[in-house]
Amino acid sequence: MKKDLSNIKKAKYLLDKNQCIGIPTETVYGLAANAYSDTASLKIFKLKKRPKNNPLIVHYLKIQDLEQDCIINHNFKKLFKEFCPGPLTFVLKLKKDSKISKIVNNGKDTLAIRFPSHYLTRKLLKSINYPLAAPSANVYSQISPVSKKDIQDEFGGKIKFILDGGSSQIGLESTIISLVKQPKILRLGGIEIKKINKVLKTKINYYKKNYNIRVPGQAKLHYSPGIPIKLNVNKAYPNEAFILIQKRKFFDKNHFYLTKKRNLKEAGKNLYSILRKIKKKKYKSIAVEKIPNIGLGQTINDRLIKASKK
Ligand code: TXA
Ligand code: MG
Repeated sequence: MKKDLSNIKKAKYLLDKNQCIGIPTETVYGLAANAYSDTASLKIFKLKKRPKNNPLIVHYLKIQDLEQDCIINHNFKKLFKEFCPGPLTFVLKLKKDSKISKIVNNGKDTLAIRFPSHYLTRKLLKSINYPLAAPSANVYSQISPVSKKDIQDEFGGKIKFILDGGSSQIGLESTIISLVKQPKILRLGGIEIKKINKVLKTKINYYKKNYNIRVPGQAKLHYSPGIPIKLNVNKAYPNEAFILIQKRKFFDKNHFYLTKKRNLKEAGKNLYSILRKIKKKKYKSIAVEKIPNIGLGQTINDRLIKASKK
């Protein structure tokens, strides 16, 4: 507890000085900076080597804070009540007098926002008087980090401070929904579409084609371990890493289990760390067993498909 407090103080000190820091969230770790500052936001793009036309997600503590910057609507209120804080990002219309730096959203009239549920990041947000712009804390197009160590491996000493919140509980990025016009899913993520449909009493479909057009950052090469990946494979060669949905009776040293018993939540939580592990072991190719394309399985397959394209 005492250590938490001094770490939050340190994080606040650096953020107030327009520095970038690593923050834990329930989805993945973020690379955070003051969303009201051009100087601070620009540092995120530089560190990540991210194209400037790919806007960032802004993290808030409360609706009242969000209302300073964005216009909220009925659908937003319904979804907020059910899922926030949590792994759901909303694209909303930006207010004309919003203080959000134009660097953050590339001067667009919309903004992606979310309310992270990790207790440390909520404490941090409480201690500062600006929201935090934070993309996933990986170098552009690489695998998102799910622990402090992942960020260190990725950036070495380039990031001044990482608030350590253990390993991310969900392990997959947030679901992104645009509420600017008709609700539209822009990215699959930690919340299943089925649950969103239930709350909105509609059936929002998710088209992959949309995804690539509407979300510029979702280029083909994404979430990539930099190793060729084959999907829906029954049998792997001994020299390739084989990702399995559940533990098998007969263990081979190239086997990597996503779960013990096909629990898709568990699979989501483990996916990125397993991909990192495989990369560290210097495998030259990855084979993946068929993963059920339901619930979070859809998000897992989405990430694997993106990672498998070159
Ligand atoms: O779980 C998450 O969402 C994590 C944690 C750290 O919060 N963040 C994350 O951020 O995944 P990032 O930057 O890696 O992905 C954000 C995506 C990008 O693909 C970006 O193009 C899209 O959100 N995006 C941001 N602003 C947008 C906008 N105004 N309209 C449409 N898409 C937007
Ligand atoms: Mg990302």
